[in-house]
Amino acid sequence: MSSAQSIKSVYVFEAPVRIWHWVNAAAILVLAVTGYFIGSPLPTQPGEASANFLMGYIRFAHFSAGYLLAVGLLGRLYWALVGNHHARELFWVPIFQRAYWRELWGMVKWYGFASERPGRYVGHNPLARFAMFFCFFLLSLFMIITGFALYAEGAQAGSWQDRLFGWVIPLFGQSQDVHTWHHLGMWGLVSFVIIHVYAAIREDIMGRSSVVSTMISGHRTFKD
Ligand code: HEM
Ligand code: HEM
Repeated sequence: MSSAQSIKSVYVFEAPVRIWHWVNAAAILVLAVTGYFIGSPLPTQPGEASANFLMGYIRFAHFSAGYLLAVGLLGRLYWALVGNHHARELFWVPIFQRAYWRELWGMVKWYGFASERPGRYVGHNPLARFAMFFCFFLLSLFMIITGFALYAEGAQAGSWQDRLFGWVIPLFGQSQDVHTWHHLGMWGLVSFVIIHVYAAIREDIMGRSSVVSTMISGHRTFKD
């Protein structure tokens, strides 16, 4: 009996994208936890003040993870240029294509339990793309810009942080405004992560293809 072999697996996410994804997720976890404590510090530690450096360690972890996030995103941008075409999906959305919006609406209905299973996507589905561009990429760029603007206050006038991001605080008004927006940005990212992890696991169970394992092995496999 001769029958055509159906495609079982497609290589989607190359190793640099996968490594970046998990390192980036870890950095954001550290940034959100330490950032929360920078905004709402713990009560004073008992004992001699000189024996404690708790807030110092928290801020150090925040800044280290902040550098990791920024350098990681630069590396990820580089990979968008040299990697496969799925590596570029994070950085733009085909907003001028009618079909894109139609398919996005189809995905909204699917996630809202209001339609049958939609088509199969090899890369990101249209809704995932929308969320990843607007709620992850642009928002993390905003966090990096405001974060380094705050960092420039400590690094002082003339530092590279000040020369690159010194315009941000005057734009917002004053330092506290940037703190508040940077803080609000955290809750935006935390919301993205909650929905993102929910969607990834839900799609793994209910969708037509592998999802979480795709971000580990790089391969998309299909159930039917
Ligand atoms: C701070 C936490 C996280 C952030 C900021 C984040 C962000 C992202 C981003 C930006 C992408 C797009 C990747 C690209 O195109 O380069 C992505 C994809 C993906 N993430 Fe996450 N992620 C996080 C945590 C997680 C966790 C915990 C899981 C597993 C449950 C997960 C599963 C996935 C999967 C499966 C994809 C690929 C989705 C697809 O095939 O369309 N992520 N994530
Ligand atoms: C996912 C990304 C990030 C999150 C969720 C985050 C979260 C936060 C939060 C919640 C605060 C406290 C704001 C307040 O209420 O005053 C904060 C402060 C701060 N963040 Fe971030 N941040 C992120 C990225 C960055 C980056 C990339 C940098 C750059 C190095 C940075 C540098 C700072 C600085 C300098 C402060 C002020 C520290 C202080 O006043 O002691 N952040 N961050």
